[in-house]
Amino acid sequence: MLKSLQTKWKVGPGRLLLILVCFATGGSLCGILGRKILGLLELEKGVVWVMLYLVLITLLWPVCVLAISIPLGQINFFRNYIHKIFSRMTGNKIQEKKLLAVFASGAGSNAEKIIQHFNDKNKQSEIRVTLVVCNKPGAGVLQIAEKYELPVLQIQKEIFYNGDHFLPALQESGITHIILAGFLLKIPAALVNAYKGKILNIHPALLPKYGGPGMYGAFVHKAVIAAGDKKSGITIHEVDEIYDNGKTIFQDSCDVVAHETAETLANKIHVLEHKHFAQQIEKWIEGCYEL
Ligand code: GRF
Repeated sequence: MLKSLQTKWKVGPGRLLLILVCFATGGSLCGILGRKILGLLELEKGVVWVMLYLVLITLLWPVCVLAISIPLGQINFFRNYIHKIFSRMTGNKIQEKKLLAVFASGAGSNAEKIIQHFNDKNKQSEIRVTLVVCNKPGAGVLQIAEKYELPVLQIQKEIFYNGDHFLPALQESGITHIILAGFLLKIPAALVNAYKGKILNIHPALLPKYGGPGMYGAFVHKAVIAAGDKKSGITIHEVDEIYDNGKTIFQDSCDVVAHETAETLANKIHVLEHKHFAQQIEKWIEGCYEL
């Protein structure tokens, strides 16, 4: 039973426990509040009392569960959960399709893993990569886009930085989320604002160390080795207007051994990226669960 809930909601045992605690305490809290409110009305216990009580706890339940979920760090899960329940009750179809634009400047090995991950999902999956955005003519990712027959939006740095020139193209393609997979340009404010909380980046180090302007590719790995760090890794984080600053959603690390080179470290980092990025994108988009 618990295992199947973990699979269904795509959460680990710790998170499942927190979610169940939210359900239990939120449920009890709304029962207590419902009785207290009816007590204020000084109604006699009877059919009317029961009916009012039922209406009250139906209304209070989502509020109480959401309130409890905030200190327990589960607000995203319950926001989506309640949204889905109400949509089903009211017969409203939620916009299920999530269309991703993958932005990349280089070889595109991460882009390919992400495309494959969502192509391989069974037909029920509502997440698809539908656009590749690239700023480098001749970049490997362009061949990958061709291989998977994906349209490409070629952008030029100067125009990209200048306002919201490319925004209509993304919106007209119905893009709901942006994934930065080795994309070297800073995302301009217009795009960050239009896709608030919907842009994810992967950084090849353990942020907050080794982030910021100029910290990309081999520069990051050289800095880690020069500092004598024993660990490096990957950080998957949301994107805001400051370089490598948004909320971290996932990190994993690897050892930095004696005689490590930027190249050998980059290979280790790539293994971590390929292992985790697509899965973490899926969890992030789904708010970690499926009803
Ligand atoms: C990755 O290491 C990514 O973290 C970094 O650039 C590299 C891109 O590799 N920002 P690829 O183009 O996906 O092969």
